[in-house]
Amino acid sequence: MNHQNEIMIKEDTTDENGLNTMSDQENTKKGLGEKWPEPTVRVQSLAESNLATVPDRYIKPPSERPDQTIIINHQPKTAAINIPVVDLNSLFSGNKEERERMSEACREFGFFQVINHGVRPELMEAAREAWRSFFNLPVEAKEVYSNSPSTYEGYGSRLGVEKGAILDWNDYYFLHYLPLVLKDLNKWPSIPSNIREVMDEYGEELVKLGERLTRVLSSNLGLKEEQLKEAFGGEAVGACMRVNYYPKCPRPELALGLSPHSDPGGITILLPDDKVVGLQVRYGDTWITVNSHPHAFIVNLGDQIQILSNSIYKSSEHRVIVNSQKERVSLAFFYNPKSDIPIQPLQQLVTSTNPPLYPPMSFDEYRLFIRTQGPRGKSYVESHISPLDN
Ligand code: OGA
Ligand code: NI
Repeated sequence: MNHQNEIMIKEDTTDENGLNTMSDQENTKKGLGEKWPEPTVRVQSLAESNLATVPDRYIKPPSERPDQTIIINHQPKTAAINIPVVDLNSLFSGNKEERERMSEACREFGFFQVINHGVRPELMEAAREAWRSFFNLPVEAKEVYSNSPSTYEGYGSRLGVEKGAILDWNDYYFLHYLPLVLKDLNKWPSIPSNIREVMDEYGEELVKLGERLTRVLSSNLGLKEEQLKEAFGGEAVGACMRVNYYPKCPRPELALGLSPHSDPGGITILLPDDKVVGLQVRYGDTWITVNSHPHAFIVNLGDQIQILSNSIYKSSEHRVIVNSQKERVSLAFFYNPKSDIPIQPLQQLVTSTNPPLYPPMSFDEYRLFIRTQGPRGKSYVESHISPLDN
């Protein structure tokens, strides 16, 4: 399908379409200007230079290192809990058990996987393969798309702008789908030759899936189906994607592919690597390695959902481990609220005994936490608490 027309029309809809509400000056003050605090090092280049160990910048303090037993890709016995699988087709045909399974997963730890979700497996495969080819290009070809902290769009190698921070073992590519005014195909790679077309269709399908998920999330809270989408800004919702590339790591027991974090936005729909595990979800004191079902998407709830649901739903804390054998590619699609409207607990979920736990804040403002300070577990949502009402 050709979306050229849609892309042309966007020029006329620039008003109220969620352009960054932070002024450039404010962003620059926070370190989110055009420059990273240190020269950018591509992790893939490090990995390809056959180092015996990893540079100090990637060595986590002992307490944050992954558990040795997990590195060999076997599930430790204590963590043999499977991520719930929800059959969306069956759920939408009225299967109450599927609905209940999803509801429980959202309340308990904000993580589940969906099958029969309506996205063609060939499209999923094509998207993953297009990005694999992109990351296999020589580094000079990728540098053209090098990103900066001001928008994060493009080819990047760090999250956060703190000088001297310990970095994660990954490179990534970040791009926008919605609002249309932020969708700029010139900022997307042009090689491999099919990547823009494939990703355009992929984005369209994932927005539809995100929308269907919000309907179930809403009705499982006893709200009308459209409620969450309306709280996200209705037709003005946002959508963006982060493609993660985790190169082989010579010392996987010392580093992390992505440090513990919860996603700052709405709903994340992850297409994991079909051959290499790496994603882990925190469950109490343990980290569970996710073994995904074939053709499944992994869904996890972000902080904006925890906030809107007044903590009935939980955003999940997760991280990624690396290995020395095989690189890993994953596509994280983020279905987000419109970025400049205040997000706060929904009226219907607030009572005198259940006061609102979070003050209003726009997503633009909220995501500055992770964009400046990098991944820090669930600390942002946990410290974003309403002052006590007297
Ligand atoms: C992310 C993320 C997980 C993965 O991009 O936010 O958590 O498996 N990715 O790459
Ligand atoms: Ni994440």
